[in-house]
Amino acid sequence: MKTERDSNPLLLMSGVQKRFGGVVALGGVDLEVRRGEVHALLGENGAGKSTLMKVLSGAHAPDAGECSLDGAPYAPSGPQDALERGVAMIYQELNLAPELTVAQNVLLGREPRGALGWIQADEVQARVASALEALGAEELQPDTLVRDLGPGQRQLVEIARALVEDAQLIVLDEPTSSLSQGDTRRLFEVVKRLTGEGVAVIYISHFLEEVQEIGDRFTVLRDGETVGAGVVRETSLEELVALMAGRSLDEFFPKVPHEPGEVILELEALAGEPLPREASLSLRRGEVLGIAGLVGAGRTELLRALFALEPVRSGEVKLNGAVSPARSPRERLDEGVGLLSEDRKGEGLALDLDLATNATLSHMTPFSRGGWIQPSERRAAVERWIERLGIRCTGPEQRAGDLSGGNQQKAALARLLHHDVDVLLLDEPTRGVDVGAKVEVYRVIGELAAAGKAVLVVSSYLPELFGICDRIAVMHRGVLGPARPVDERTEEEVMSEATRGFKEEVA
Ligand SMILES: Nc1ncnc2c1ncn2[C@@H]1O[C@H](COP(=O)(O)OP(=O)(O)OP(=O)(O)O)[C@@H](O)[C@H]1O
Ligand SMILES: [Mg+2]
Repeated sequence: MKTERDSNPLLLMSGVQKRFGGVVALGGVDLEVRRGEVHALLGENGAGKSTLMKVLSGAHAPDAGECSLDGAPYAPSGPQDALERGVAMIYQELNLAPELTVAQNVLLGREPRGALGWIQADEVQARVASALEALGAEELQPDTLVRDLGPGQRQLVEIARALVEDAQLIVLDEPTSSLSQGDTRRLFEVVKRLTGEGVAVIYISHFLEEVQEIGDRFTVLRDGETVGAGVVRETSLEELVALMAGRSLDEFFPKVPHEPGEVILELEALAGEPLPREASLSLRRGEVLGIAGLVGAGRTELLRALFALEPVRSGEVKLNGAVSPARSPRERLDEGVGLLSEDRKGEGLALDLDLATNATLSHMTPFSRGGWIQPSERRAAVERWIERLGIRCTGPEQRAGDLSGGNQQKAALARLLHHDVDVLLLDEPTRGVDVGAKVEVYRVIGELAAAGKAVLVVSSYLPELFGICDRIAVMHRGVLGPARPVDERTEEEVMSEATRGFKEEVA
């Protein structure tokens, strides 16, 4: 689609190596990125994508390898140096100051100053306005506080900041995993504008549909090495998956037969502060029930109210037919209800503790004999979870914060599974998880249902809900619609309820 402006690549990385202690994160990676292209960087969880981008942005010094940018040797001493060379990294945990305005954030640290060091207000306005205009984001007011913006708009502010620095290469590492569909579309528009101006974008995502839509060329990493590169539209989804995984995947949604049994959980007009609005639902043992909806519809708030993490304004939760007004997550856990939070960094994992501790800390009873913890049993249990979920790590003692993003997600899931609860509340369980590992997570969910557990899944990825759920309900602006069997539903109908609400059932 794009005309090639220049046959010299903008960025060349060759033989890049990086190890952390005994872990070889990058064993010799080659990457070539051209001006004006969207270059998709693909690979399974732990393949080395984020590490490579940290080398590129100067956050890590490589142990070996050569890089050149625009034909000149490139070895940034740190992120600021990289930025001055025109390489900008947009992190997922955005680096904005919420109490400052859009303009202040865009120009943070480099406000234009006059001869006496005064900040020149007019010039500030003009530069910020032109960066926002270049993104087609004129509706963002330079004097709005960043804390008043949604996640998609914050990301645009972060990109505007890169533009003010005249970035020629912008890295987006899983940019859409917490964005609504609308914000994702918007980001794609921005990416197209940028590449139209000759900026190169490196795009990392586990949503291969997205990659097929906006990617021009791709590079696949596996186990810290480049295993393939090519043109996206000449490569099928199956070929991409096979390159990433080193094998082909024959089923995306493994069917594990399970039969819904008696009702275990009932919500009666459960209302939170301010969301959800009076939500009613019943969930059976051996059932997987999905909740679809747009980001911000109140799905996370529903799970959090149910798990006693947020106050309940009115309504009831019944477990096995009895009203249960739990006051804390601990009480819910003791009743056999567990939550996998969408925010794995905030409340999911203790990043400074090791994997084993994270997986077992809240439920040590199985390893306790006469008050003594049996370390070998604990280790064996953790190793089983590592194996079952395919957590890529050096072992149970690896620090959780050093795991790759997708492997942190799997570690958080391991902790919930280790609890062996009867009702699992899963908020975006496969966020950041690679295609192959998603299949494993789906299989585990099916097996849980087959074992008589009840699973409530919130997901923004519709194919996943259709692939694994028995029934699907939609939430729209805090209102939970009726759960209907998945074979009576279509994706179009679910999308329409999610964006426009319900017809007759809910007033
Ligand atoms: N600071 C660190 N200390 C130790 N090991 C690390 C560190 N950073 C990364 N690793 C290891 O390097 C490997 C590559 O991790 P990286 O984060 O680059 O993977 P990724 O491809 O981005 O995966 P994901 O798709 O899950 O985000 C992993 O095995 C990870 O555990
Ligand atoms: Mg990563």
